[in-house]
Amino acid sequence: MLTRLARALTSPSVREGVRGVHRTAPAASDALFVHRDTAQNNPDTPFEFTAENKKRAEAIMSIYPDGHKKAAVIPLLDLAQRQVGNWLPITAMHTVAKMLDMPRMRVYEVATFYTMYMRNPVGKYHVQVCTTTPCWLRGSDQVMAVIKDKLGLIPGHTTPDGLFTLSEVECLGACVNAPMMQINDDYYEDLGDSDVSEILDSLAAGRTPKAGPRSGRFAAEPAGGLTTLTGPPPGPGFRVRDDL
Ligand code: FES
Repeated sequence: MLTRLARALTSPSVREGVRGVHRTAPAASDALFVHRDTAQNNPDTPFEFTAENKKRAEAIMSIYPDGHKKAAVIPLLDLAQRQVGNWLPITAMHTVAKMLDMPRMRVYEVATFYTMYMRNPVGKYHVQVCTTTPCWLRGSDQVMAVIKDKLGLIPGHTTPDGLFTLSEVECLGACVNAPMMQINDDYYEDLGDSDVSEILDSLAAGRTPKAGPRSGRFAAEPAGGLTTLTGPPPGPGFRVRDDL
């Protein structure tokens, strides 16, 4: 058995990284799931909530009943990330852990589970492209290709001018408007090739492109027009038996 395994692992196809059709693709992440101290992000990185954000944090915590304050960990980490500007230093996690009386490890678990928390600095514009099945079927490969072509970026990297960071993410909940990408807090949906290019150019020029569907749809209504609720609603008694 061991010999067969050793043979399989040292076979030319495995050594050269060629994947057999019967095997799933190896799961890879853009980011390390463990913390590594860097000059910018280490246990001495200064972090403290501003006076205004302290008030916000208290208001958030007051929503949760006694004994359940720890549930505020997600909004508090988000508040900390927004205060720093797009990323969450480890000292911000320590501050939140202290405020909520939680072990630091519990906070790390939350921050590493949700991809909305960036545990290292990202560019001014964090471009997150969804490549889950509906977006993939509708052309997310093409969206990625345009970004790679235009910015020379691969997922997990930032442009040298610090303007754009690219991430490949799982479903962002806008499948009806696939393909889509999120840039900072905005969703850009129903994307065609020229849309991606135009959005990136606008951001690079300091403009804010209009968020939402690029197909002319208002939101997630049927692309070919309404199929239900097309007339005035019937009045009371509609389709009720006469003898009732
Ligand atoms: S699959 Fe892309 S938003 Fe859901």
